[in-house]
Amino acid sequence: MSPNVLVTGGAGYIGSHTSKELARAGYNVFIYDNLSRGHRWAVRWGPLIEGDLHDTERLRRVMEENRIEAVLHFAALIAVGESMQTPEVYFHNNVVGSLSLLNAMRAAGVGKIVFSSTAGVYGIPEIIPIEESSPTVPLNAYGDSKLMVEKILHWEGVCHGLQYIALRYFNAAGGDPDGETGEDHYPETHLIPCLLQAAQGARDPCPIFGDDYPTPDGTCIRDYVHVTDLAEAHVKALHYLERGGSNATLNLGTGHGYSVKEILIAAEKVIGHPVPVVQQPRRPGDPPLLVAAAGRAGEVLGWKPTRSSLDNILGTAWRWQEQHAALARG
Ligand SMILES: NC(=O)c1ccc[n+]([C@@H]2O[C@H](COP(=O)([O-])OP(=O)(O)OC[C@H]3O[C@@H](n4cnc5c(N)ncnc54)[C@H](O)[C@@H]3O)[C@@H](O)[C@H]2O)c1
Repeated sequence: MSPNVLVTGGAGYIGSHTSKELARAGYNVFIYDNLSRGHRWAVRWGPLIEGDLHDTERLRRVMEENRIEAVLHFAALIAVGESMQTPEVYFHNNVVGSLSLLNAMRAAGVGKIVFSSTAGVYGIPEIIPIEESSPTVPLNAYGDSKLMVEKILHWEGVCHGLQYIALRYFNAAGGDPDGETGEDHYPETHLIPCLLQAAQGARDPCPIFGDDYPTPDGTCIRDYVHVTDLAEAHVKALHYLERGGSNATLNLGTGHGYSVKEILIAAEKVIGHPVPVVQQPRRPGDPPLLVAAAGRAGEVLGWKPTRSSLDNILGTAWRWQEQHAALARG
């Protein structure tokens, strides 16, 4: 019989792509989302159960009634800037919400979880590429909320035998190769969709924050990983936990970084015309350089990003943006 899994935040960007990969791998997917930031249209690979992370009793019932064997936990608030305006909202949603989920899992006897963490836990890294053992000193409330959940998972493992994998994503990017789902955050703060929307005239010129960083062209460098590669890592993480693999925290990145200017030039090539941008001062809390040491996820899970070339990331993101804007126009 196919295993049943619960995907919290499955109506969002990475959760919907992962739901598709899970369904393809033979899992029965149940999506739990309060639709505060997600979309009904992104729920295509399993039933939507509308609910909030804080509703522990509902979560317990959902897990028991659907004989859930494992949880993939994407649900969170994710905007760094917003987290510095209302940190209390971020800690309540991301930390208290995750505790509620873990309490429900324990009550329902569900002992496996794959957790969406972030490269934001590292703050300004001392050494590039960033190893998982690097110091964790988040620069913002969002990153700290994720680090807190990592710590909770650790102690749930020690004290209650919880099996978990925490995946620290670098910059998730790109869209589903079949155009069935894609990135749609509001407000959109991520560079690639921001450039593509500016190119379509769907928003103001895309801001470029800082051109005086200690990098070759003065703009920030990030490690972009295709969302379908991320989705595949989750399926492998689940298989690993099912085999009884021990708990781990792993980077998901490519080990290669691109500057903002390099992304802009590559995006203009894919789109075929210049993208309106506006140069702005540095944004507080942006580290100049974030690139993953990407080998450990390969050793532990047998995962390797195969779709994360810049061409593929931008090509799939652009196809999605064009199609999505057309849908939104009706
Ligand atoms: N997008 C990235 O580049 C990136 C990078 C690192 C880590 N992450 C992590 O990956 C996960 C998914 O990110 P995403 O880009 O898909 O975000 P998203 O906003 O598209 O999806 C998050 C989903 O969680 C739901 N949600 C939020 N709070 C909830 C609550 N209390 N109860 C129920 N549902 C709730 C939202 O409605 C949304 O559908 C997040 O945990 C995020 O921190 C994302």
